[in-house]
Amino acid sequence: MVGLIPESYFAPLDLPKIFGRVAPLHVDLGCGDGAFLFALAEQTPGKDFLGFERLLHRVKKACRKADTIDNMRVLRIDTPYAVRYLLPEQSVEMFHLLFPDPWTKRRHEQRRIVTPDFLKAIYAALVPDGVLRIATDQAEYFDQIRGVAAQSELFGLAESNGSDYPASTFETQYKERGFEIYRFELRKVSPVM
Ligand SMILES: C[S@@+](CC[C@H](N)C(=O)[O-])C[C@H]1O[C@@H](n2cnc3c(N)ncnc32)[C@H](O)[C@@H]1O
Repeated sequence: MVGLIPESYFAPLDLPKIFGRVAPLHVDLGCGDGAFLFALAEQTPGKDFLGFERLLHRVKKACRKADTIDNMRVLRIDTPYAVRYLLPEQSVEMFHLLFPDPWTKRRHEQRRIVTPDFLKAIYAALVPDGVLRIATDQAEYFDQIRGVAAQSELFGLAESNGSDYPASTFETQYKERGFEIYRFELRKVSPVM
């Protein structure tokens, strides 16, 4: 079981070398145990799937799944750093941000991942018309993310029901406990020339 080890932490990843081909790329931001990414990779062999996760025991679980298929890789890294510095410009068809840590205490709010700078980095990494999908069980966090996104002119905002995609591990757990799930999508808006 070997996670992805980048040739450099200071230069964009060589995606064709990593995946051995050129194909549309999906990136799971905080992929946890990799269950969602693995299911999507299995059902979509024509695309490539990359997971970022910082917790070692979850990275190990995700790597064990990635080892069994050709189109999934997992990198142990801090998501904002990886999006900003390791993803080539216009390389990602879709980002998935599923149940990001909500940091519900007021003094921890600054740890929340979606900020204007984060969205700028997402924008740079997306292909034209590329999408960032977001899901959370926290209504207040959902409203805050929507607020940050609405202030940005980089994206069009759309509702989504998530039914086209496999459930992540946290999604399955929250659904079993009867929690409401809030979702939306941000689609990259290309500048008018
Ligand atoms: C609530 S869990 C959701 C996991 C998975 N997306 C799911 O839906 O099953 C949030 C995950 O994001 C990871 N995470 C949080 N902040 C991160 C960061 N800055 N960089 C990488 N992973 C992060 C956590 O370690 C955790 O595994």
